[in-house]
Amino acid sequence: MKHDPRSILWTLAYRALARPLLFQLSPEAAHHVVMAGLRVISANPGLLEMLRLAGSAGDMAHSREVFGIRFPNPVGLAAGFDKNAEALAAWGALGFGFVEAGTITAKAQPGNPTPRCFRYPDLKALVNRMGFNNPGADAVALRLEALRDSDLRPRVPVGLNLGKSKITPLYEAAADYLHSFRRLFDLGDYFVINVSSPNTPGLRTLQGREELAEIFKALQGFNRTQSAAKPLLVKIAPDLEPAQIEDVLALAEEHRLDGIVATNTTLDHSALAGRRDETGGLSGAPLRHRATGVVRFVCSRTRLPVIASGGIMDADSAREKLDCGAALIQLYTGYVYRGPALVAEILRSLPPNQSGHTPASASSSRAIISGLSTCTPSALLPNKCPKSRRSPVTRYSQC
Ligand SMILES: Cc1cc2nc3c(=O)[nH]c(=O)nc-3n(C[C@H](O)[C@H](O)[C@H](O)COP(=O)(O)O)c2cc1C
Repeated sequence: MKHDPRSILWTLAYRALARPLLFQLSPEAAHHVVMAGLRVISANPGLLEMLRLAGSAGDMAHSREVFGIRFPNPVGLAAGFDKNAEALAAWGALGFGFVEAGTITAKAQPGNPTPRCFRYPDLKALVNRMGFNNPGADAVALRLEALRDSDLRPRVPVGLNLGKSKITPLYEAAADYLHSFRRLFDLGDYFVINVSSPNTPGLRTLQGREELAEIFKALQGFNRTQSAAKPLLVKIAPDLEPAQIEDVLALAEEHRLDGIVATNTTLDHSALAGRRDETGGLSGAPLRHRATGVVRFVCSRTRLPVIASGGIMDADSAREKLDCGAALIQLYTGYVYRGPALVAEILRSLPPNQSGHTPASASSSRAIISGLSTCTPSALLPNKCPKSRRSPVTRYSQC
């Protein structure tokens, strides 16, 4: 793999300076410090340009079109990092090909009591039980509207990840998701229905057939009445049984969703044996193989594009997900442990335009946070999952 001096500098600066300082703080305090810095940069065109020059942004060799959106590269920021869509421009400048903001709920909510995020540095893992702390769909919509009308719009696609408000009963979940979807519709390039966080009581039961059908129906019903429908995806847990995943996929296809995000954090804490355990979802290196197994299974069962997330900590684990058929990948915990050099490291390791998704003409590019352009129906996109990889599996296997 080629090395470039900027990447080596980022690696050294993060490992030797930033990470030791940040890791002196609690995970949540460190996150606040990072987000405060990125908010300042996102509001300042000069600083953004400096970050772009210092980073790896702007390399279109890995650009691809997925569910009708042109992504400058396949490496995105996973949901939960920029929950409130506060530093969108900075992520693109840091080299990410897209950002998924959220989880956003219809109603503002404080999340669970702190502490609610925990590091396991020897395992390169995190456990979190944040509980969708966010200012609510209306507040995020106001921020995105202001951003849309400014020069500080992000240059990469922005997905908005939607969750159920904690106080909303499960039987009213569909209406709760629909409220957020309607309010934010014009402001996101794609949307993710998050029914897989382990930290909102009962949320994962929404992955059941009837519950999910009701949510898909409500959101797609609205989506189809718009002049240009937005790509709608569902994010699944890594703890589902194959039969449950097949149910989700069948429903996603029936309701013409545009893709699957696999996976969220796991409730399997066996990797933490002998350490202090904490309630919440486990992410990072111990999630890698479980998530890869789910991604592979999903790719073997559907033509829908997959955004893979879970345990991507280096170039190898990134390639693994793409080799299984993922169209795009997302980072969270890997970014915490490896810092900004991780994106460039992954991109350097990828052959240009890897994936079955063919590059599209510039004219089909989607305007970012504009809601102006239309999407290519996913049915028209080429199948990125070679038939040769479609082996019958009873339990997930690895690539
Ligand atoms: C602290 C923390 C907060 C998260 N918050 C969310 C969230 O709000 N919504 C969501 O869909 N996923 C959330 N996630 C899950 C990540 O988006 C990602 O799917 C998961 O962590 C697996 O990827 P990773 O191993 O690279 O971290 C969160 C993860 C962490 C570590």
